[in-house]
Amino acid sequence: MNSNVDENLKTEIEKNLGQFGEIYIPSKIKLKSKDLFGLEKQKSLLNSFFNVLKHYSEDIPYNDSSLWDKYWESKTDLFPIPIILSSLLVGPPGTGKTTLAKAFAKEFNFPIIVVFSNALIGSLLGESLNRVKNLLHQAETYAKKKGPIILFFDEIDAISGERSNMSDVGEIKRMVISFLQELDLLLEKNLPIGIIGATNHPEQLDKAVWRRFTFKIDFPIPSDSVRMELINNFLKKIKNHPKFEVKFDNKDVTLETIRLLTNSLTGADIERAFQIAILQCFNKEQGTGANIYTIDTNILIGAFKSVININLDVNEGSEENKADKSYSGSSSTEVSD
Ligand SMILES: Nc1ncnc2c1ncn2[C@@H]1O[C@H](COP(=O)(O)OP(=O)(O)OP(=O)(O)O)[C@@H](O)[C@H]1O
Ligand SMILES: [Mg+2]
Repeated sequence: MNSNVDENLKTEIEKNLGQFGEIYIPSKIKLKSKDLFGLEKQKSLLNSFFNVLKHYSEDIPYNDSSLWDKYWESKTDLFPIPIILSSLLVGPPGTGKTTLAKAFAKEFNFPIIVVFSNALIGSLLGESLNRVKNLLHQAETYAKKKGPIILFFDEIDAISGERSNMSDVGEIKRMVISFLQELDLLLEKNLPIGIIGATNHPEQLDKAVWRRFTFKIDFPIPSDSVRMELINNFLKKIKNHPKFEVKFDNKDVTLETIRLLTNSLTGADIERAFQIAILQCFNKEQGTGANIYTIDTNILIGAFKSVININLDVNEGSEENKADKSYSGSSSTEVSD
């Protein structure tokens, strides 16, 4: 691992940036891009994005702080025209947007800050723009001294959404515009800072926000073959566990039945269904003296149906219900018969 990224970094920037979101240093990120199934095009696009960022700063004199200012003053532009390295990831919840961005941050050894856009809004409304400026300033300082850093603005639609819902629209609008202007100023400096935004609601993003993103990468619901790959991977993990087994004891239910049943589910939904199935089977066999927990056809199909029902409820519910329900989605009531 590159010595310029280490534990100290976390403490160094956490003080100022921690209030806006989560800071992930590469060594602490678990999944790699190969752990996500499918998403080949998305991987290839993000890979080029990260790769360019790497080239922005290959010759930064990391170890000699006396050379930093001079280096940035005299640095030759990498491209004939300035290119703003920003990318918008668009797709339904649970399609792997955050996980893939973090995976590449790990592989390229760049820290990534997942900024919660509503924390930004809170700050814009509350203690003034200074805290937000601080976020960008810290990112700039880091990038100049240590190299690439990713600012990942999660649920970036929260910015546009708030703008249209606020009673004092004028005030909020001015604040958001100031934030975007600050962001522009930072991006114009051509520092090795990658901006990634993620949204489930591209239709709610207004033009001012769209304009800041040079690239757009769509994250769709997984195809049949990707879903089956995911499902088989979970089945394999269960089979490999000494205490668990899978038993397809209903001849009417085949992998084909599962493929058809799950055609609206995302990677996160499938993961959740397996969590439900495992917990249900664990609880059912507690106290029965069983040495092995058996996930049978009914449990598995029941878990998929329960996730499908949660999704139906969420989609039919209001925005308010949506938040409540998705928050309680994996509660024990969903696990019971
Ligand atoms: N293609 C996939 N292969 C393997 N796992 C996946 C895939 N897609 C999603 N997942 C899993 O689903 C979970 C949720 O993914 P993630 O948080 O990245 O989704 P997201 O698109 O960022 O969702 P949101 O819009 O709600 O923030 C993760 O544990 C991730 O590993
Ligand atoms: Mg996400």
